[in-house]
Amino acid sequence: MDRIMEVSPYTQMLKTASMAIVVCGLPEVQEGRCGAFWPQDCGAAIENLLLQAEDLGYGTCWCGIYPNEERTARMKELFSAESTPMAVIALGVPEEEPSARGYFDPEKVRYFD
Ligand SMILES: Cc1cc2nc3c(=O)[nH]c(=O)nc-3n(C[C@H](O)[C@H](O)[C@H](O)COP(=O)(O)O)c2cc1C
Repeated sequence: MDRIMEVSPYTQMLKTASMAIVVCGLPEVQEGRCGAFWPQDCGAAIENLLLQAEDLGYGTCWCGIYPNEERTARMKELFSAESTPMAVIALGVPEEEPSARGYFDPEKVRYFD
């Protein structure tokens, strides 16, 4: 986890997290099938992971790696990975339960008849 924090300075919550989950994609697996949707697939997998963790009483933080080229390359090297590291998920037992920060703006949602 110390080395992940070196690669991505935005993962300092790993100092107190119980674990880090690195979600990776294999872009070449999808060639000729459904195109380059692997980032969306990883995003959906990550969101499911966050929701399940919340349901189990854990706290998480989604920390982006891909498409930042330097972070992606360094994370690949760190794990000797063939796949592309998309994100680090910090996971632990939460000490607080902050309420939503109020970014949702109903004005930005468009409805059509
Ligand atoms: C693609 C993506 C990358 C993110 N990367 C980071 C990150 O590197 N470090 C961090 O502290 N938060 C990161 N965040 C933000 C947190 O995961 C989280 O969404 C945010 O703290 C939630 O707070 P909010 O819902 O109150 O905005 C990222 C979020 C997304 C969706």
